[in-house]
Amino acid sequence: MAPLEGQYILIIGGSSGMGFAVAKLALASGAKVAIASSSADKVQDAVSRLSGGGGHAQASGHVVTTTRDGIQQQQQPLDHVINTAGRGVPKPISEIDMGSVNELARLPLFVPLLIGKLAPRFLKAGPNSSIIFASGQVAEKPASPEEVAEAYIYLVKNTDATGSNVSSNGGVILK
Ligand SMILES: NC(=O)c1ccc[n+]([C@@H]2O[C@H](COP(=O)([O-])OP(=O)(O)OC[C@H]3O[C@@H](n4cnc5c(N)ncnc54)[C@H](OP(=O)(O)O)[C@@H]3O)[C@@H](O)[C@H]2O)c1
Repeated sequence: MAPLEGQYILIIGGSSGMGFAVAKLALASGAKVAIASSSADKVQDAVSRLSGGGGHAQASGHVVTTTRDGIQQQQQPLDHVINTAGRGVPKPISEIDMGSVNELARLPLFVPLLIGKLAPRFLKAGPNSSIIFASGQVAEKPASPEEVAEAYIYLVKNTDATGSNVSSNGGVILK
């Protein structure tokens, strides 16, 4: 498996939950990490917590929005892009309309499609780079963010895991 030392990882949704846990683990493994999410306060707080360990932690933060087209310039090529950005289901199905359906699909569907289009422009070419997406269903109850983060590190390191799906669901499919 490829080492993480010196690799540059962008984690969209890295200011809390699974993304934050992945950022912590990646930094501890010697990677350089950029996190991104929509709240400037959350990004700032997360970067300061990620850098709090001192040592050689290399964390930076960026504010992104899914309501605007366009992309910032990225000077340094990335080794991996991870997307864990998500929001809870906003309303019950009896109350949805076209507007809320579009809103609901934005992060789990539209954003991954655009990341799939745009990320290769900023990734190093070759089999060591990766794009990793979080997905899930309401019924799935994954383990703690720290435990799930190990799976992301596995996918980042395993250059042969192309197209793989790693699941953490509390055994829901057995019920
Ligand atoms: N935890 C679970 O039980 C579970 C189960 C199944 C699936 N999932 C899925 O896994 C993903 C992450 O879960 P989590 O527990 O880590 O969630 P979380 O702790 O709420 O973290 C979500 C992250 O996404 C960011 N985000 C939300 N909206 C954004 C936007 N419009 N643009 C950019 N960033 C945005 C948040 O930061 P800001 O608020 O700053 O934007 C935060 O960093 C979600 O897609 C969730 O649906 C989770």
